[in-house]
Amino acid sequence: MAAETAPSIGANTAPRHVAIIMDGNGRWATQRGWPRLVGHRRGAERVKQIVRACPDLGVGWLTVYAFSTENWKRSTEEVIGLMGIFRRYIEREADGMAAEGVRLRFIGSRDRLDGKLQDLMASIEARTAVNARLNLTVAINYGGRDELVRASTRLAAKIAAGQIDRPTEADLAACLDTAGLPDPDLVIRTSGETRTSNFLPFQAAYAEYEFTQTLWPDFTPDHLATVLDRFGLRDRRFGGA
Ligand code: IPE
Ligand code: IPE
Ligand code: MG
Repeated sequence: MAAETAPSIGANTAPRHVAIIMDGNGRWATQRGWPRLVGHRRGAERVKQIVRACPDLGVGWLTVYAFSTENWKRSTEEVIGLMGIFRRYIEREADGMAAEGVRLRFIGSRDRLDGKLQDLMASIEARTAVNARLNLTVAINYGGRDELVRASTRLAAKIAAGQIDRPTEADLAACLDTAGLPDPDLVIRTSGETRTSNFLPFQAAYAEYEFTQTLWPDFTPDHLATVLDRFGLRDRRFGGA
């Protein structure tokens, strides 16, 4: 195979798409004797900094895991507090993101979210749809298994309608919430946990993983730069020899 047709094999440059499991907000706060929501607020501040750092680090696609389909198991206070943080984040960051060329998208199931939050999500997606400097995707009420069930239902409807005969991997990918997004090259999880917790199981099948002990509210753009440097040294083979 000609070298130019296999650009991803061997030494890498910056990952095109970075996905982050932002974990450790609760422990960060608890360690200081503070309510867990303080950790979530600090975590949201970190998101802003990481978003701003991405374009200069050569990252064009950033996906962050903000709330999983399993996170409803938490206390009502924590869940309501988190939903308020998401709402305020969108309200306060909308102008900045629109001006800085950020295209914001959301993945996950929206039905269970507050109507006002759903409206805000739809309006910022529409407002930033022309942007391309950074593609920021926020996973809210996202679970990979839930997404696959919803995608399978869509795929089955297309098959029943005669639009698809024999479904391919690409046909299923087109039914996922992430349709149109490139697969993540690198998945980072903070806080020392070494599990994926239902994040992008289909899309991250060939992603590289980085697990760091740093709690999310302590994860700076410098930490990100270090992780990206390590990514550059990895040998991605995609099953090749
Ligand atoms: C991640 O931090 C944020 C969400 C899951 C919403 P956690 O809240 O899970 O923090 P820890 O894992 O309890 O420290
Ligand atoms: C994963 O973190 C979800 C998010 C970061 C939004 P959790 O803290 O919910 O995951 P587990 O419970 O440790 O697997
Ligand atoms: Mg956690």
